[in-house]
Formats: sequence, structure tokens, C-alpha cells
Amino acid sequence: MTTSTQETLGFQAEVKQLLHLMVHSLYGNKEIFLRELVSNASDAGDKLRFEALADPALFESDPDLKIRVSFDATARTIIVSDNGIGMSRQEVIDQIGTIAKSGTREFFQSLTSDKAKDAHLIGQFGVGFYSAFIVAERVTLTTRRAGLTAEHGVRWESAGEGEYTVETVTKESRGTEVVLHLRAGEDELLAGFKLREILRKYSDHITVPIVMQKEQWDSTAKAQVVTEEDEQINQASALWARPKAEITTEQYDEFYKHVGHDFDSPLAHVHARVEGRQEYTLLLYVPKQAPFDLWNREHRRGIKLYVRRVFIMDDAEQLMPPYLRFVRGVIDSNDLPLNVSREILQQSRDVEAIRTTSVKRVLGLLEELANKESDKYATFWKEFGRVLKEGVVDDTANKDRIAKLLRFSSTQRETEEQTVSLSDYVSRMKEGQTAIYYITGDGFAAARNSPHLEIFRKLGVEVLLMHDRIDEWVVSALTEFEGKPLQSITKGGLDLSALGDEAVKQEQEQQTADHKGLVERMQKALSDRASAVRVTYRLTDSPACLVSDEHGMSTNLERMLKAAGQNVPNSKPVLEINPAHPIVKRLNDEADESRFSDWSQILFDQATLAEGGQLEDPSAFVKRLNELMLTLAGGGPSRIWTP
Ligand SMILES: Nc1ncnc2c1ncn2[C@@H]1O[C@H](COP(=O)(O)OP(=O)(O)OP(=O)(O)O)[C@@H](O)[C@H]1O
Ligand SMILES: [Mg+2]
Repeated sequence: MTTSTQETLGFQAEVKQLLHLMVHSLYGNKEIFLRELVSNASDAGDKLRFEALADPALFESDPDLKIRVSFDATARTIIVSDNGIGMSRQEVIDQIGTIAKSGTREFFQSLTSDKAKDAHLIGQFGVGFYSAFIVAERVTLTTRRAGLTAEHGVRWESAGEGEYTVETVTKESRGTEVVLHLRAGEDELLAGFKLREILRKYSDHITVPIVMQKEQWDSTAKAQVVTEEDEQINQASALWARPKAEITTEQYDEFYKHVGHDFDSPLAHVHARVEGRQEYTLLLYVPKQAPFDLWNREHRRGIKLYVRRVFIMDDAEQLMPPYLRFVRGVIDSNDLPLNVSREILQQSRDVEAIRTTSVKRVLGLLEELANKESDKYATFWKEFGRVLKEGVVDDTANKDRIAKLLRFSSTQRETEEQTVSLSDYVSRMKEGQTAIYYITGDGFAAARNSPHLEIFRKLGVEVLLMHDRIDEWVVSALTEFEGKPLQSITKGGLDLSALGDEAVKQEQEQQTADHKGLVERMQKALSDRASAVRVTYRLTDSPACLVSDEHGMSTNLERMLKAAGQNVPNSKPVLEINPAHPIVKRLNDEADESRFSDWSQILFDQATLAEGGQLEDPSAFVKRLNELMLTLAGGGPSRIWTP
């Protein structure tokens, strides 16, 4: 081999940090380095096979894909080589010297320096190629991209610290060879049986054959000696194509780690062969933990598409809607053409049919968890519930099924954890109750402490506490559940007369009649801010609350849209007052009009704050409040501040 143009480059700062962490926190799982290298070699085989569909010459004279694992006890090296796609010099620099993953920054920010926690995070992030440095003090990777000539080989080498070198070398065979120069103390890995054991455990599902040289007992040397003959270590048949009964849980799990780029086992899977107008196999998984980039609806690397066992593409977004973007796995079609492109996928009716069925299977899997394994479902909901909620808005065809899978907080348990299903709620509805009541709020505390809940608490009527941002959209799309309308308790006039509140209702009517004058005065004082003032029926303890129009936006949604910079028409809410409250009583007795106006403004501002809103003019509120406190403390200033 001739060499030329060696250059020394520094790792991207993140790589350095990741390397350091990996070596220190993943040592207890060091065997995974082999899984990661084999996984990359397998991906490289998949990519070659796919590119060769368009350009068969890429196979050169070597069409049988293979991954070879060997070791050299004297040199203390382990070698993993493949005849897959290989890399060009630029690809080596881009793919091995940097981390191009989305969510990288978030990942590094979430590190804690607690070993166990960080190990878990790294696993979730995907350890990949760098895991080689857990056991190796130096790694040499030599590669040549399929289609380039022998003199375009590249050698990359690094001790896993600050920098690496790349040089151009001659490499006759296409593909990649990774040589690990083991750290001191790692000699147990220099044994055929040990490597075989690790490969069988982690890499059996790899579809490319993994070979090692056979070993034989040599009775004169009294040792295992390596022969020239190859033997295949893995089954090398596509796991999803095997009958379910022949696949163990461990095999399903290991396969998931490979396709899902996850370190952890999955939460659940569904494996099915679908026959009919089209034939295909799907093996889909729900992870245990959300990835860092879950919130990026555009970024998905979930589903691998195969056609008759040939890998076609990663991240085939046409096969899963955005609200199921957490699903990982494989769909293998018997009917799609091998040269299927993303454009074809977008228009294909066949693909649409596959997607429709796949979505149903995933929903079925979730229903099964919800019904039979509530602990697992709770884990699922915690991680992915907010994403699934998008389905209520996006997938009208499956809206009812998704609605059954939703979980909320409610006044029944008063915990932030979302565990109440709409069916649970309906089963607990009181006699005479016709609607499912909910309140939306910016955060659990805001929803739970809203004054609007007072009458419901008094009557013992459960209210769903919706505190995720997406909930505003959920309720705009989901107006009823099993014939029961969903009704916001902060909108319109409430009528709970069927719920045994006759006394409350009568009281309110009486109070309304008694406080006509007060209401009119307040209406005048607040004419810029409130569309009306009325005596409440909702409150028992608080002095006032804001109510929005029956068909209008909730004040919470209005706030959210404004915060997102959207132009929202200014709608004025109704201010409801509680005449039984001492402050309102006092207000009623206030003869001074400008002081009366200040009190009214304060009540309005307080009602805004009580539901988690923000004041348009906080300093005016503070000034008014201070004036008022001084007056009440006696001997206050004679001048009442008015804006
Ligand atoms: N044997 C190989 N042949 C060709 N390309 C490779 C090989 N090994 C690594 N690469 C390239 O280097 C990139 C980085 O590999 P790495 O294992 O770190 O990440 P990944 O495989 O993309 O994701 P994961 O974290 O799940 O492993 C790969 O995406 C691939 O482009
Ligand atoms: Mg990898």
C-alpha cells in the first residue's frame, strides 16, 4: 500500500466529549462495541445493495456481502471488515469526525456527570462507531468506497483523544476494515469463543453473513488453533421473515436495538405478515424512551423500508404519519418495485394502503397495552402521549380510536400524571350529567387552581385538567366522545341545574337581582376590558373569574397564540363576580367612583392572574394594589392613582 497526503484533524468538540464519556461510563457494557461495528458493517452492506440496484457495477467482482470478524493475539487486535459501500475521504471526515445528529446540543446539555444516568443517555443518543474506544486505545479504519478505484482508499486513525489523521491509501477490496488495538487488560477479548459468544448474543439478526475462521483443537499444541476455513456465526436470515414462534424475546430486542438505534429494549412490538391485494411484513416497535429530537416533526428515522428483503431506505416517512413518529421498525413489501423512490412513495396508492394498515396495527398494539399492561401503557403515555394527541387533530379516520387512548389529569386524582381516560370519566359521570367537562391551562398548577373549578368541586363533578399545550388543539378537534360533548368550564354560561345545584342557581338569581347596581357600575368601569360583568354561578371562594364566549377561543389558547407571535383578534372576556366574597362586598359599598374603578381593575387583573395569564400592564396593577393596601392600612394617601 502506498500512502500520501496525510492530514491531522481535530475532532468536533462534541465528539471529544462523547468519547470521554463513553469510555468512562459505558465500561460495564463494553461488549457492545462489537455490536455497533457489526451494525455499521451491515448498514454498509444494505446501502451497497441498494445503490447497486441502479448501478450493478458497484459489486465489482465480489457480489456476496459478508462481514468478517477476526483477531490477532500477538498484535492484540480485533478486526471487523466488510465489503459494503465503504466511504470516500470526505465521507470519512464528515461521518467519523463529526456528529451530525439532530438533538446533539440538547443531548450534551442533559448530561449530569452521574455515571449511570449518563450511560443511559448515551445509549439513547446512540453510541455507534466511537464505542470502539471503550476497549481500544487506538482505532485504525481503512475504507474504499464502492465505485472508486483502488488508489482512492482512505485510512483514518485515532487514539480517541483530541485528534485523528486521514490519509489516502491504496485499498484493493471495496468496503471498510476497522482494526482495534486493544487497551491493556482487554485480553479476554482475544479469544474465538468469546467473540462468537458476543456475536451470537447481539448480532444474530444481522442479515449479512458474519464469518469467522473456524477453530480446531490441536492436541499437540494443546490449544485451539485457527484454521483457514470460514464458518458463519449468525443465522443471517431477516428476522422479520422468520415465523414468530421461532423468535425469542431477546432476538426481538436485539433487532430493535439495531433498527431503532437504541441502547435499551423496546416497550412493545407488533409483528405481522399481511396478505391480500398486497403482501408485506411489518415488524414495528414502540420504544421505552423518547429520543431527543421527538419534537421535531420533520426529523424521522423511524421505519426502514425493504422490498423483498432488499433494503431500500431509512426513514421512509410515507409509511408512518407524524403523530406516530416514535415508532421504529421494518416494513418489507413483496410488491413494490425495487427502484421505488421517495417521489414514487409519495404518490403510490399501494404505499398508502400499507400505511393505513400499519397505523391500525400500531393503534392495536397501543390498545392492547392500555387494556392489558397498564404499567407499560403509563410509561408509553409519559413519553409519547403528547405526540399521540396530535393524531386526534391529524388523523380524522382514526380519531375515535385515538380518543380512547388519550389520558388526562383530572380533579378526581388531582395529580399531574395523566391517567384518566375519557371512558373512565364517562363511567364516573354523575346522574343528570350530560357533558364531559374540562379546563385548559398553561401548566398543571394553573389548570388545577383555577377558580372556575369551585362550583364543580362543590357539586362533586369531575373535571379534566388539560395542561399540555397541544390540548387546546385536541379539544378543538375532539368535540365529543361516545355521544357526550366535551365542554370547557371557562366558556359561556354554565348550567348545572340537572346536577343538584338548584339551591346554588336560585341563590345566583337572587344575587343577580340584588346586585344590579354594582354590576352596572363595574361594567362602566371596565368597559374597555370586559364585554360584560355578571354575578357568578361558578365561584364559591374566589372574588372573580374570566369567562370566554361559548364559541370563542379560550383565554388560554389566546395567550398561547399571542406568545407564538400570531395575530389574534382581541376578544373581551366576561368578568364574573362573586358577591358573597368580602372584597366584592366592600366594593359594593365604595362610594368614591375613582376608587371603585381601581378596585374593579384590580379584580379583573387578579382574575387574569388566577388562571395563569399575564397582565398587559403589570406596573399599573402593582401601583393600584399598593395604593389600596395603604388605604386599607389606614392613613393612606388622599390621592388615588388612576391611569
Ligand atoms: N463499516 C462502515 N461502512 C460504511 N460507512 C460506515 C461504516 N461505519 C460507519 N460508517 C459511517 O459512519 C457513520 C457513523 O457511524 P455511527 O455508528 O457512529 O452512527 P450511525 O450508525 O449512523 O448511528 P448509530 O448511533 O445508531 O450507530 C455512519 O452513519 C456511516 O455513514
Ligand atoms: Mg452505527
